[in-house]
Amino acid sequence: MATTVVNPLREGLRLARTPEPSTIVIFGGSGDLTSRKLMPALYNLALQRLLPATFSIVGAARQPLTDKRYRDELHTAVGEHSRTKPLNEEVWRSFAEHLYFVGTPDERGYDTLGQRLDRLDQDLGTNANRLFYLATPPAAYEPIVKAIGAHGLRGSTGWSRVVIEKPFGRDRESARVLTETIHTVFREDEVFRIDHYLGKETVQNILVMRFANGIFEPLWNRQYVDHVQITVAETIGVEERAGYYEQAGAMRDIVQNHLLQLLALVAMEPPAAFDDKSVRDEKVKVLHALRPVDADRLSDHAIRGQYGRGFVEGVAVPAYREEQGVAKDSRTETYVALKCFVDNWRWEGIPFYMRTGKRLPKRSTEIAIQFRVAPHQVFSREASEGLDPNALVLRIQPDEGVSLKFGAKVPVQGIRIRTVNMDFDYGASFMVDAPDAYETLILDALRGDATLFTRRDEVDQQWAFVDPIIDAWATAPAAPPIYEAGTWGPADADALVTADGRAWRKA
Ligand SMILES: NC(=O)c1ccc[n+]([C@@H]2O[C@H](COP(=O)([O-])OP(=O)(O)OC[C@H]3O[C@@H](n4cnc5c(N)ncnc54)[C@H](OP(=O)(O)O)[C@@H]3O)[C@@H](O)[C@H]2O)c1
Repeated sequence: MATTVVNPLREGLRLARTPEPSTIVIFGGSGDLTSRKLMPALYNLALQRLLPATFSIVGAARQPLTDKRYRDELHTAVGEHSRTKPLNEEVWRSFAEHLYFVGTPDERGYDTLGQRLDRLDQDLGTNANRLFYLATPPAAYEPIVKAIGAHGLRGSTGWSRVVIEKPFGRDRESARVLTETIHTVFREDEVFRIDHYLGKETVQNILVMRFANGIFEPLWNRQYVDHVQITVAETIGVEERAGYYEQAGAMRDIVQNHLLQLLALVAMEPPAAFDDKSVRDEKVKVLHALRPVDADRLSDHAIRGQYGRGFVEGVAVPAYREEQGVAKDSRTETYVALKCFVDNWRWEGIPFYMRTGKRLPKRSTEIAIQFRVAPHQVFSREASEGLDPNALVLRIQPDEGVSLKFGAKVPVQGIRIRTVNMDFDYGASFMVDAPDAYETLILDALRGDATLFTRRDEVDQQWAFVDPIIDAWATAPAAPPIYEAGTWGPADADALVTADGRAWRKA
């Protein structure tokens, strides 16, 4: 039985979100990201009738494929990876008619691509509105951007934009060079650097929680907040990504982009409006205010680790160095914990503890705002034994939602206080499946809304913060300490927090 066309948006809202007729060109159109994320997202946009009335999607890669083979392969991939199942064959058939593939193994390939794009424009009336999506290995970004410029792929009318996948550079310098190259073909307002975390509903909800409500913001500062904890915990190991991960490590893979973006959203000042300039101006101020980590006292602020053998969810797993494609003496970190400070009026002196790691006991991404304890203890110490500090926990994945933890009287004679949870659960409250982050972000890029994409100055500051730590670790005599898979990381990471009289939350 086919799925019905689901669109939770009212018709007016749907029309307001529907982009102009356009063409999407995906470099890396035969790759893993395209088949697991981009095409399922585009198909789901089609299912919700959120794609333009006329559009085409052209996959490009060095190995050529026929349009038919491309459509067949994506039919299987989208069937497997779409968030809505089973595939609606009727919607798929009409979607697939808009799919094409062009091989770009050499200069001639780019000319062929240009001719194909011009012909599609003429046939469909898409006015040369083009979204170029770079989903190739990073080494291909610069050559492809240059080829877009050299072969005049931007088209003579309409708009052109480029979406660039992570990683954006491998340090501050290479990110700057990449931006300079991109700017020879695209203006900054045409550049959409993707951090898919920002497309997640619950991440956007951080801004809604903070700035659409009157009750949180008065407490959101150093007067009331004791500290903030941000956790991105994975149970998986390096999987098939050893080639990339060996060069990147947790610092480049998660901290430089996702964790620092989450920090910026939690710590930023209220923007004047929810638009790309206002939101990104406020985020970048936070990144500028991040106190640089003192390389001479690194271990007071930054801890790394690498997983050894252990058990995750009851299953024995190998050590990182035993994984396929990983060097036997690898020094790549699979865990990072940081204590950061945002040196501004709102946050002076308040620690932001952040951690991320692979092969941890639980998959969980969350932000916990822990509040100060009440200034005066009215109840006896004995009565308050079961009371933890108040915390507001924003759960990003899984089980998206928000919990407020506070003390309540246990219903017995006399006063006994215990921490209870007031829970908001996304799924149960709205009864609709949240769109995948890539659906949101592709639609935004097609509409020219860059609010949820990372601007050049943000990327620059993010690298400026992590580069000195990465450099110090690269030259440190010792390798990262090993933590047992299935535990919460190296012991030093606990010390980072306990030294301040605090503890990591049980995420
Ligand atoms: N996979 C994920 O879940 C994921 C998540 C986040 C970010 N990313 C990022 O997305 C990018 C792609 O990752 P992936 O996992 O999809 O890689 P992949 O499976 O190795 O696919 C790479 C794709 O790029 C094509 N390609 C390589 N060089 C090219 C060139 N010079 N011109 C045109 N096409 C070229 C490849 O086809 P040919 O070899 O035929 O050219 C293939 O289609 C990477 O930057 C990665 O960091 C991936």
